[in-house]
Amino acid sequence: MEPGRESYSDTRAWLRSLPFAHIRPPGGLPPPDADPHRAFVAWLEAAATGGIPEPHVGTLSTVDPDGTPQARVLMLRDVNELGWSVSGPDFSPKGRALHANPKAALTFYWREQGRQVRITGPARPAGHDAATRDFHNRSEIAQAVAMASRQSEPLADEREYTDAVAAAQQRLLDEPWLVPDHWQVWRIEADSVEFWQADPGRRHLRRRFTRAGGAWSAQDLWP
Ligand SMILES: Cc1cc2nc3c(=O)[nH]c(=O)nc-3n(C[C@H](O)[C@H](O)[C@H](O)COP(=O)(O)O)c2cc1C
Repeated sequence: MEPGRESYSDTRAWLRSLPFAHIRPPGGLPPPDADPHRAFVAWLEAAATGGIPEPHVGTLSTVDPDGTPQARVLMLRDVNELGWSVSGPDFSPKGRALHANPKAALTFYWREQGRQVRITGPARPAGHDAATRDFHNRSEIAQAVAMASRQSEPLADEREYTDAVAAAQQRLLDEPWLVPDHWQVWRIEADSVEFWQADPGRRHLRRRFTRAGGAWSAQDLWP
């Protein structure tokens, strides 16, 4: 156990004392001719089988119309050659930001393996079928919460939330095929995917794949 904050003169000294890079690198970077979607899935699989909790949780960054960046943690819902999919209510701040400016970044960090992946590109609605499938793949309670959602609006009274979820649960029992109009899947069609691999000796490795005219090429970067 590390000494607590109270053992240090100030927060800066305490932050410097915190250990970094207790890592077990499971391998090196994907080869330069790798397909970045498949290479990502291979790293995700290594994270999942390596016991990293919630390896499919990443940070979605968007930019508001006034230029303010916003980042929030989301669950990855799918990944294939078309892109990386995340879901949520279309009316939410992230949904509105993506309507106004469809550029997004999705970032994953698998700490115990010293790995980061940064994905950037346009994020577009993946269509009605994708939203329907995604919604029905949610658990019953997660469907009710999503149906009742007024995500990111001020919540004046917790009862309002509880009652709205209970009403949505009843509605879904009566009409289990329902999918709320506001449910959205955004697919990030990456034009850049960067893999970062920590090295216990600090010789970290970076390789960025970029897409031009449908073909991917790789470039190594200074760490
Ligand atoms: C582990 C975790 C997973 C989450 N997954 C989702 C998700 O899949 N979809 C979603 O809309 N919000 C998810 N959230 C909540 C978001 O972080 C965020 O609070 C919410 O989407 C509102 O963001 P916005 O106001 O920028 O639109 C998750 C939060 C955490 C901590």
